[in-house]
Amino acid sequence: MEFRFDLHPIFNQSIIKVNSNLLPVGFRGDRRLALDTATKMAEIINEMGSASARAQGLSNPVTTAQKLRMTDQNIYLLGDPNQGRNGAVVGLLKVGKKSLYVFDQNGQTQMVNAPCVLDFYVHESRQRSGLGRNLFDTMLQQEDFVPQKLAVDRPSDKLLGFLRKHYGLQKTIPQMNNFVVYDGFFEKPKPQE
Ligand code: ACO
Repeated sequence: MEFRFDLHPIFNQSIIKVNSNLLPVGFRGDRRLALDTATKMAEIINEMGSASARAQGLSNPVTTAQKLRMTDQNIYLLGDPNQGRNGAVVGLLKVGKKSLYVFDQNGQTQMVNAPCVLDFYVHESRQRSGLGRNLFDTMLQQEDFVPQKLAVDRPSDKLLGFLRKHYGLQKTIPQMNNFVVYDGFFEKPKPQE
């Protein structure tokens, strides 16, 4: 997705992480530049959030700049500096911890504060070329999350296929809410040797 402004100064690397201040993590600049960048970032997040909602057939976007401002969630954005004159944004992944009631393998309700995959979108023209994997792996590494410990909010068939293919996530633990959790979600970490 291309924008009316130049994306190169915002994307100093191909994947940037953005939190509630609407600035890329590690942003450096004066107040004027921060305001200008946050305004552009809001536009990027709103456009990508709307495209994600359309791709999933949702009437309202899960991701907007205003919603991000009110949370401690993180958005990872994937840019392509070589598309068009201004570059393009081709992927979005939103994650964050949420308090959830989930059933364990025995059907007992557990209250957990789980890392969640909340929104994920790669531009239609770029799907199935490994960009989603690239974005997801970067998120796992930066957040220090493990795939089987993630709760996934209302996953699409494409996302279920993606998680099965790349992370071997297949067997789910049935839930009553919209979240999908996988076998291994409740496993205790192995003690350090
Ligand atoms: N049909 C079926 N499976 C698909 C499709 C598709 N059109 N596109 C991707 N996948 C799955 C498959 O497992 C595929 O492997 P395969 O090509 O060997 O079958 C694998 O993903 C490809 O991996 P990547 O290329 O790394 O993934 P991609 O860049 O396509 O990103 C994503 C995956 C984000 C799910 C993307 O397809 C997309 O944006 N889909 C539309 C929006 C969507 O459904 N988002 C998830 C909503 S749920 C949520 O966000 C919590």
